[in-house]
Amino acid sequence: MARSNRRRRGGNGDAVAANGLVIQTEGLRKYYVLGAETVRAVRGVDLNVGPGEFLSIMGPSGSGKSTFMNLIGCLDTPTAGNYWLNGRKVSELSDDQLARVRNRDIGFVFQTFNLLPRATALHNVELPLIYAGMPARRRHRRAAEKLERVGLGDRMTHKPPELSGGQRQRVAIARALVNDPALLLADEPTGNLDSTTSREIMQIFGELNGAGQTIVVVTHESDIAAMTSRQVHLNDGLVERDILNERTKTDATFSH
Ligand SMILES: Nc1ncnc2c1ncn2[C@@H]1O[C@H](COP(=O)(O)OP(=O)(O)O)[C@@H](O)[C@H]1O
Ligand SMILES: [Mg+2]
Repeated sequence: MARSNRRRRGGNGDAVAANGLVIQTEGLRKYYVLGAETVRAVRGVDLNVGPGEFLSIMGPSGSGKSTFMNLIGCLDTPTAGNYWLNGRKVSELSDDQLARVRNRDIGFVFQTFNLLPRATALHNVELPLIYAGMPARRRHRRAAEKLERVGLGDRMTHKPPELSGGQRQRVAIARALVNDPALLLADEPTGNLDSTTSREIMQIFGELNGAGQTIVVVTHESDIAAMTSRQVHLNDGLVERDILNERTKTDATFSH
């Protein structure tokens, strides 16, 4: 809670939501019209996520997980329904405000890492800060700190092809964290990783969440979802179940 309040920057509609929620969706829908056919990818989702939650969006392939994630990541606009991110109604934001929200308020992690192959780990992590106009020295320091946080303090000058899959994903996580986003969003972050490396990545998410980071992980794997503290199951574009994990597997699996 304190963390989420601390990072509010004030001004320009940046106020904290009266209800304190990070995500609030109401009847959120996304339909794709393809010629005569309409694909109802998300068919009316109501979801509340509070600060500090560690949530997974679970469901089989085609159930609407990525579509829903793109909506809550402000990467796509809904066909109908409402979405408040940190209490701000996303449909009322200007293009500039939306770009700022995507850059500063949300950190994205993808299955395929999406790193620049010829740039060092440090430079990859710095990129969002370059877009945000931060001076070089502060940028280096901040990026280095995030790489250390994910255990890559000794790999800063390596380029992605010189790193393992798990290390690449950790660079991507450091990049996602570099602006201290209110929300970390990951779409199938372990989809390209073996099970041991997947657990390591989920352990990093667990540690970040332990430090207060709000995290939403999209996955079709039940053992990955079991490592989060709340599972929202999507089926055919609708929430089928919303369950709290009594004891997350991260605690059980990773106590050394
Ligand atoms: N850009 C698009 N245009 C048309 N249909 C799409 C598009 N993106 C996704 N879909 C369809 O929407 C449904 C949900 O897809 P998606 O959200 O990617 O599911 P998931 O991530 O759970 O596998 C699928 O039937 C998919 O084919
Ligand atoms: Mg998907």
